[in-house]
Amino acid sequence: MLIAGNWKMFKGAAEAAAFCRGLREAALPDGVDVVVAPPFPSLAASVQALAGTEIGVFAQNCHWEREGAFTGEVSAPMLRELGVYGTIVGHSERRQWFGETDETVARRAAAALEDGLHVIACVGETLEEREAGKTHDVLRRQVGALEHDENLVIAYEPVWAIGTGRTATPQMADEAHETVKSLLDVPVLYGGSVKPGNAAELLAGPAVDGALVGGASLDLEPFLEICRAATPS
Ligand code: PGA
Repeated sequence: MLIAGNWKMFKGAAEAAAFCRGLREAALPDGVDVVVAPPFPSLAASVQALAGTEIGVFAQNCHWEREGAFTGEVSAPMLRELGVYGTIVGHSERRQWFGETDETVARRAAAALEDGLHVIACVGETLEEREAGKTHDVLRRQVGALEHDENLVIAYEPVWAIGTGRTATPQMADEAHETVKSLLDVPVLYGGSVKPGNAAELLAGPAVDGALVGGASLDLEPFLEICRAATPS
């Protein structure tokens, strides 16, 4: 089981470090891996605050080139140098607002893995796609762009469930996870309005290997409750 907190564009360095100090003091369940994904400027402080623990720090994106004229981008070697453990790629907010495509997401994932980072690659359908019965096609296309790697994890995040308070039913999540796993044999996290109140039920699905948590990862107590709801694997 992996529980990952995606902080999006929240928490500057001081706030991130304070959260991480709280997290390192907290009792986390055995057999549950916990990671946090702060914004770039807060990575170093988070790595420092979690040094010597099993809690990994992830970036929220990573470029496919090691260096070059790519204003605003950050590369895998730069993240590795900071002590960052992995990176999220292909979050739906990146796809929706920043022009990420299946191809750029795949390139980002491949480069990060190549450089030794763990990767959480996000996939998921929009409401329009679900209502048109296209969920499986979308997943096939998005997952099909990625290649298997032992350090790759996929997060299934139905776009209509992100930050909306709407969650997939455990059955919907489990079905989508089965589809993903039939395409690529990797662990699959569920994401989209995971909260302390629904975590246990969502995480109980046989094809659910953890959660990618946005809003409910911003405060320590609800995030810890979600970690505790995860059954060790
Ligand atoms: P949410 O975000 O938990 O706030 O819905 C999940 C995500 O976007 O990773």
